Amino acid sequence: MNCKLLAAGLVVMGGSLTAAAKSDPLRFNPENFTQQTLTMPDGSQVSYKAYEGIFYVTNVEDSTYQTLNIYVPDKMADRTRIPILLRTYIGGYAASTAKSPSASDATGRALKEGYVVCIPGSRGSNSTIERDGRTIYTGTAPNGLLDLKAAVRYLRYNDALIPGDAELIFTDGTSAGGAMSSLLGATGNSKDYDEYLKKMGAADARDDVYAAICYCPITDLNHADMEYEWLYGCTNTGVRHLDEAQIKISNELAAECPDYINSLKLTASDGTLLTADNYKDYIKSFLIESAHRALQEGCEIPDTIGFIFYQDKSGPMGGGPTGMRPKDGPRPQMGDDRQAPSFGPGARPRFNKTSDFVTGLDLDKYLGYVASVTPLKTPPAFDQMGVLIDTPSPENKVFGNTKGEAANFTDFSLRHRLNDPKASLDKEMVKRVAIMNPMNYIDSDKSTVAPNWYIRHGAKDRDTSFLVPINLATKLKNSGKNVDFALPWNRPHSGDYNLDDLFRWIETTLNK
Ligand code: DHB
Repeated sequence: MNCKLLAAGLVVMGGSLTAAAKSDPLRFNPENFTQQTLTMPDGSQVSYKAYEGIFYVTNVEDSTYQTLNIYVPDKMADRTRIPILLRTYIGGYAASTAKSPSASDATGRALKEGYVVCIPGSRGSNSTIERDGRTIYTGTAPNGLLDLKAAVRYLRYNDALIPGDAELIFTDGTSAGGAMSSLLGATGNSKDYDEYLKKMGAADARDDVYAAICYCPITDLNHADMEYEWLYGCTNTGVRHLDEAQIKISNELAAECPDYINSLKLTASDGTLLTADNYKDYIKSFLIESAHRALQEGCEIPDTIGFIFYQDKSGPMGGGPTGMRPKDGPRPQMGDDRQAPSFGPGARPRFNKTSDFVTGLDLDKYLGYVASVTPLKTPPAFDQMGVLIDTPSPENKVFGNTKGEAANFTDFSLRHRLNDPKASLDKEMVKRVAIMNPMNYIDSDKSTVAPNWYIRHGAKDRDTSFLVPINLATKLKNSGKNVDFALPWNRPHSGDYNLDDLFRWIETTLNK
């Protein structure tokens, strides 16, 4: 709701708040806050009301995590409808407590911009409670996601009492948190989660959101292993130094990927159907776009990592040997950085003597460079438990059971672990995996998908393959969503960077 309405509402409700709160445990109490201040990196102070430790379900299982905090800036944005940034700090699919805003990430910036901020806690792979002398793991999938959906419902349910507009919720997270943000964006109001949410005592309200901000989402988990090997297999005998057994698994996984790529039936922005045969060119188009933009911003790109630069001995850049970035010549101008990558039959590299340098990319060479910066994961990169090593990955843990036993979540790894080529996941696991994958909800009639998406995956982030964010962004674009997607240059696995760019984008979605 907007602030003027809140003030009017409080006058009308007067002293009845306490009684109302008692009779409805999910009712937000606008009077229960403390006044807090954050010092921003530029030294400015942002003051706000902090509503903390609010339970967002009635059947609280894990009181450490199932709470949320809401922060309302004293100086609200000068607009009638105030957005709410819902930031999750989930990392590694672990549990996350409700946190306070930070001056160095999107939460502090949102408060400075005059937006409302909500930071929910959520259960995760390592959250436990003691019951009847036993340790119970509370955060196995999909419970972390359910908690976040319950938090969204809480904001909607209390829209008339909480400043900010629950129809303008922007979810934000990084890595496993980015995956959760993508799930919040993709699965709004889906009946697949209803039964669980009802049992938890989540508010009876919608849980679709307006926008999802996803930094390096570690998602599409049941295809991520094959996508990783299909992309990075070229490094197996080089920089990755795999042994024979690892190479065998890598090759088996990679062999499954083309069918998956083809099954998606995605199209590039020029309408070209994406297949396993042209998909690497599609990846290249995003990396070239990234390098191109970096050059426009004044970055130096080494000559040794696969990029091929324009050379024109007669042109203004002077020229040089093939593969060298011209070192002299005028710097290109900023702007023109929102163009779709050139891709498709007959497409030539976008090129303009005065603003573009990159004309091509040796992808294998570039992937070798990425692998040399941060060692790659060994195969299988995600569902690793019991295949070549016993150690469970964060994903094996989150798909585990309430006793804390980790589990496989793909037939591939289950078969290898059990040494049984016919083994398959049980029905319950198939369902859990399906409801943790946003790809199953985009372009389906099963949910209300957020209309706006901001997706970033660093150009040297090797935590998952480029296919994961690219497929997510492309599927969303193909289904008509407003998607701002990029592989930012020289970025490793990280989030909430380039906040100027993010908040500019937020503003454009609000001004549509
Ligand atoms: C995260 C990183 C990973 O590489 C992964 O497999 C799962 C989660 C993370 O940083 O949240």
